[in-house]
Amino acid sequence: MLWSGDRRAAVLVASGQLVVVAVLLVLRQAVSGAGRVGDVVLVMTRAIQVNQQIGAALQLLQQLQRMARSLTRLRWMRALIRSQQPTGADLTVPDLLRHGIELRGLEFTYPGTEKPVMTDVGLLLLAGATVAVVGENGAGKTTLVKLLCRFYEATAGEIMVDSIDIRRFPLDGWRRRIAAGFQDVVRFELRARETVGIDELTSELDAEADHALFERYAANARRVGRRTGAIIILVLRRFSTVRMADLIVVMDGGRLVEAGNHAQLIAPNGVYAELYSLQAAA
Ligand SMILES: Nc1ncnc2c1ncn2[C@@H]1O[C@H](COP(=O)(O)OP(=O)(O)OP(=O)(O)O)[C@@H](O)[C@H]1O
Ligand SMILES: [Mg+2]
Repeated sequence: MLWSGDRRAAVLVASGQLVVVAVLLVLRQAVSGAGRVGDVVLVMTRAIQVNQQIGAALQLLQQLQRMARSLTRLRWMRALIRSQQPTGADLTVPDLLRHGIELRGLEFTYPGTEKPVMTDVGLLLLAGATVAVVGENGAGKTTLVKLLCRFYEATAGEIMVDSIDIRRFPLDGWRRRIAAGFQDVVRFELRARETVGIDELTSELDAEADHALFERYAANARRVGRRTGAIIILVLRRFSTVRMADLIVVMDGGRLVEAGNHAQLIAPNGVYAELYSLQAAA
């Protein structure tokens, strides 16, 4: 598709040059007295029209090329997802989460690297809970979320969903139960309402609006959580929002170093208390 697009564009550019040659020929005839002024005007008008059409066709071809590139990437991604389907997934994902999700001795090393970025993470995420994951850059927050979304398989340890190993659920069924909002600001070529659904939610808001939005979001999420057992995981930088979570998980260097609610974690003067006071001071 890309090849044929390039070929057609070359043909169009060449035909544009032929038009220029035709104009020059008619001009030469007119100057030497063999042609009339009317011929020159007619050829010039036609040449302008042809040029405009070639311009429009070239634009269309460029658009088609962009679409073809996106389609190639989409096909690659679909093939990757198909190839990732784990074997032995013999259960359907339950409608309701009753007990929760338990991480046991979770370890992870990114493919192509040697150093584990997550070591021995054990954690119980109770059904219906709002969980905030905090920690410095590179602590492993996003990696933890990626493992829960099953973008990667843990190198060791297990994730149990209501006491069932997560690997027994098919990947697509599991992902259908997950909704995610990311922090990266990406401008998608979609309609505004679709973009709002997949873009970062609050990166452009000030602290007050961010806090108000998340309070409403967390209240709604709690209501849904009570009904379905859904767990809300927030990876946030603003601690005014973090303190509302039922469970705060503090990560450091790929390890889980503290877990509890705000009152429990602020008292012992640990990593959370330090991060919290740093942000409060700022
Ligand atoms: N695709 C990857 N390949 C190799 N290493 C990675 C990859 N993604 C992240 N890492 C490494 O894994 C570690 C944890 O990264 P992660 O993105 O989970 O941290 P984070 O807590 O989300 O950080 P941040 O606050 O910057 O978002 C870091 O050392 C990072 O360099
Ligand atoms: Mg991150």
